[in-house]
This record gives sequence, structure tokens and C-alpha cells, in this order.
Amino acid sequence: MRLQNINRNARAVLKAAACEVIRRYHQVAPEFTRFYSGTPTNPGPVFAKEADFLYTLARILMPNRILEIGLGGAASTLAFAEALRQNGGEGRLVSIDTSHEMAARANILLKMHGLKRFATTLLGSSDDPSIREQAAEMLGQVDILLIDGDHSFDGVVRDFQNFHTLVAATGVIIFHDTGPFENRYADQIAKLPREHNAACPIPTADGRGVYHRPDVARAVDWILEQHPEYGSLAIHNMAEPSCGIAILQRRAPFFSPAEQP
Ligand SMILES: C[S@@+](CC[C@H](N)C(=O)[O-])C[C@H]1O[C@@H](n2cnc3c(N)ncnc32)[C@H](O)[C@@H]1O
Repeated sequence: MRLQNINRNARAVLKAAACEVIRRYHQVAPEFTRFYSGTPTNPGPVFAKEADFLYTLARILMPNRILEIGLGGAASTLAFAEALRQNGGEGRLVSIDTSHEMAARANILLKMHGLKRFATTLLGSSDDPSIREQAAEMLGQVDILLIDGDHSFDGVVRDFQNFHTLVAATGVIIFHDTGPFENRYADQIAKLPREHNAACPIPTADGRGVYHRPDVARAVDWILEQHPEYGSLAIHNMAEPSCGIAILQRRAPFFSPAEQP
């Protein structure tokens, strides 16, 4: 056998063994999404508690369809896909990303964790009408929409405008990166690479922290001003690092009895 073939076989055996270890670990530790979550030096993916939160939200709401803009490190993708598996139903997730590399990585992770049948990746930009059309065709109405793609003001507003009409009346729209970090992370945040068109970190008015993606917070405020039909909830942790989550849902009375004859 040639050396090249031996190397190829050894690589395949190692890869299969690594996948098996991950699969077995997954069975005893469903909080595996923490492996892929963000940290103050890598605040792209949702943080560990945020991944737990997204997982729990999807377990409680039992969504039929989830749409995600921004695969990135795939922490949110895996959290949602695992929740869909645990929900035991026919729920499906579609995740859009412009990056071929991120989509390929997410597909490997989904496969490794046995979650591929719950999730589909769509390669392209969320502002491409054909991508929106494909997502709408695949999902119909959406119960959970996560916006975590282009973090510029225009990008966040555009994603909301293009996709909020797909969301069911009782569905939720989740924005990632709406909160500030504590001041002790300011130096680290200042050194992080900036996304194209994204604003620089900005301190909060009360001096307690720093927004690492201020455009997202500004965009969500603007959306709430323009769309008073939505109410909001902030999940912002200032005791330990997290990027922050804002949730929008259409306002509706809780009590709506049938009319009396
Ligand atoms: C912060 S990451 C997403 C993190 C992910 N939600 C997680 O929990 O790991 C942002 C991703 O959005 C993608 N992206 C940026 N602009 C986009 C757009 N207009 N359409 C689709 N994806 C976009 C980037 O390629 C990147 O992978």
C-alpha cells in the first residue's frame, strides 16, 4: 500500500473516531452548544447562556418553522436544531449565510451531532430577493426569526423589513447583539475587527458599559419607533459577558373572548 493511501486511511479512521466521541458526548451532555458559543475575544456566536436561552425558548414555544440569518459559529443553529430534535415533531430550521466556509462548517457540525435532518443552510445574502423567496418557499410561515447577519444599521433594518412579514402573528423576532458589555471588556472590544459598514463601539450613557455593535441596538430602537404594533423584551446580562438579545412580538390582547350571541 502506498504511503499516500495509508495517510488517507489513517485520517479517515481518526475522523470517524472523533465523530464517534462527539456523538457519544452529545448523548450525555445536551448542553454541547456551549462548545461553539462566543467569548469576549470572539463575540460572533451567541454566548453560552444565550445558546441555552435560544434552546429553551424553542423547547417552550415548540415552533414549527425557524428562520435564522447568520450561521457564523453555528451556536444558535445547533441550539435551535437540537431543540427541534427534542421537540420530537416536524419542526425545521433554515439558516442563511453569505459565507461558503461558515455554511460548510455548520453542515459538518450538524451532521456530527446528528441534526442535519432538522436544518438546511441557504448560501447567499439575506438581501437577495431570490434567497428570501427560497426561504419563504421552504418554510411558509415562520414562528421564530433570528436576525444575526449584517450588523450595520441598514443591514438590521433591511433584514427586519424583508422578513418580518413571514413571521406568524404570535411568532417572535430575535435580534442578537443589542446589549452592552461591561466596561472591563472595553479594551478587548476596541481591538476586535469591525464588520464592513458597522459602527465602532460606543459607551452607554450611564457609563456602565460599551456597545460592541451599537448599530444593532439603534436599529431595533428605530424599528420599534416605526412599528408600534410590536412589543419588546431585552435579555441583557451586565454581570458577565454576553452580547445581548432583544425579542419583538406583535402586541395583542391576552384576553379575546368569542362574541356573545
Ligand atoms: C455573528 S455571525 C452569526 C453567529 C451565529 N448566529 C452563532 O450563534 O454562531 C454573522 C454571520 O452572518 C453572516 N452574514 C453577514 N451578512 C449577511 C447577510 N446579508 N446575509 C446572510 N448572512 C450574512 C456572516 O457571514 C456571518 O457568518
